[in-house]
Amino acid sequence: MSEPANVSKIVILDFGSQYTQVIARRIRECQVYSQILKYNTPATEIAKIGARGVILSGGPSSVYSENAPQIDPAVFELGVPVLGICYGLQLMGFHLGGKVEHSQRREYGAGQVFITDEGGKRIACDLFDGLPESIDVWNSHGDKLTKLPAGFRAVGHTNNSPFAVIENPTKRFYGLQFHPEVAHTPRGKELIENFVYKICGCKMDWTMGSFIDQTCEEIRQKVGTDHVVLGLSGGVDSSVAAALLHKAIGPQLTCVFVNNGLLRANEAEAVQKLYGENFQINLKYVDATERFLTKLAGVTDPETKRKIIGGEFIRVFESAVRELTTSGQNFKYLAQGTLYPDVIESVSISGNPAALIKSHHNVGGLPPDLKFSLIEPLRQLFKDEVRQVGLQLGLPKEVVYRQPFPGPGLAVRIVGEITPERLRILRDADSIVVSEMKASDWYYKVWQSFAVLLPVRSVGVMGDERTYEHTIALRIVESQDGMTADWVRLPYEVLGKISSRIINEVKGVNRVCYDISSKPPSTIEWE
Ligand code: XMP
Repeated sequence: MSEPANVSKIVILDFGSQYTQVIARRIRECQVYSQILKYNTPATEIAKIGARGVILSGGPSSVYSENAPQIDPAVFELGVPVLGICYGLQLMGFHLGGKVEHSQRREYGAGQVFITDEGGKRIACDLFDGLPESIDVWNSHGDKLTKLPAGFRAVGHTNNSPFAVIENPTKRFYGLQFHPEVAHTPRGKELIENFVYKICGCKMDWTMGSFIDQTCEEIRQKVGTDHVVLGLSGGVDSSVAAALLHKAIGPQLTCVFVNNGLLRANEAEAVQKLYGENFQINLKYVDATERFLTKLAGVTDPETKRKIIGGEFIRVFESAVRELTTSGQNFKYLAQGTLYPDVIESVSISGNPAALIKSHHNVGGLPPDLKFSLIEPLRQLFKDEVRQVGLQLGLPKEVVYRQPFPGPGLAVRIVGEITPERLRILRDADSIVVSEMKASDWYYKVWQSFAVLLPVRSVGVMGDERTYEHTIALRIVESQDGMTADWVRLPYEVLGKISSRIINEVKGVNRVCYDISSKPPSTIEWE
């Protein structure tokens, strides 16, 4: 899908900061559309987009170093406001005739910035409108501006830097040495609001309602009378993509749902009920349980499991589409629930963790030789925006706020061999985890909460009898994006209830452990 038309837009040039996406998020929270582009994007392209303002992100480099990422200087001639953050401030200062030097003292962590002159008098600046004369800020920089470029003045200082906030009010150029986008700068959101509304003149016109209307119209125009097929997993992204496409083209959409036999209890039934019955979406349900479990028999190596499941999925999906095609439907398009963070071209600058994180995400998917054109209606959205769209389209909260579930399903939560009996044990235990997490109001507060079946049997006693049975590990983590995670300090009462219910109710289990490892060095899933 193309960029939205008729809405205010802010372009963020990415110089490799780990916070670039956070800047984009903050602007979207202002109901203003933001778009991340690579640092050296030509000014002509930014002009074509019709950006009302440009933000220069932070970054790990020094502006004076040889391979520092450089900006197209014509960006400063576009006639739109520019806000430089950290490296962005230094770059602006450097390009426009100031001086940047290595600082004796690295400023890292919490600090204060004062919007006052030498006499202690408050300085008026649009960016700080409505804010007090000193605010708490988050710093992370080793270089600093030591000489202002012509036309600029200092607006704010820290104890370490006289030019922590600079402005050229005529050109409407602003620079912040600290990071307004992070939560550790508590009033940062107001600074960003001042920039987008007051300085750039953006309107609050990026709403999910307008997104739905515009995207449906675009889908209808693109698809015409053709047909679209979508692989529905039951996860948030494919569910919202399905609901959106259904709204746009109704019966021209067909969803294929593959039951790989590795789903949680009642999941296949719930998907058929919601999409087939409630939404009346054309749904092809394929029960491939036997096929997957036969292929997985005797396999214990985690990577081999993943490869088998990925490969089988593609074959099953392809043959389902073939069957639909022979029964009369011809699919020109394949829809996918790709989100904006997967689309943003990562800037690879040495020492930039954002680049590493990106490559980790590119897992699985369909083969490139499928003969479809792609349709990706969520390409512009962040996850929380996808959720809002889902709610507006009438998807239930349980689907929209569902915890992530890995493509290979329960297979990577059964350490060792996958058998129908071991799947039964894990499913039963998992249902108890889900129901107790929901009952105690913890389910939606954590990133993931699930059971893992270990290849360990241990001795127990039940009544007067000795038992020798399986062990379940509980994995309950908090995380922002799955890249790092920590175990949740769940109240003992909730842990105790889950444990005693599993041991009492799940046949074959006599022991429950709690996984208290963080990621890294552990991972969230056990395989
Ligand atoms: P790990 O175990 O790598 O998991 O810490 C990070 C997040 O990714 C999910 N995950 C997957 N999702 N296909 C998926 O769609 C997979 O193969 C896969 N492996 C892990 C995991 O549930 C967690 O949220």
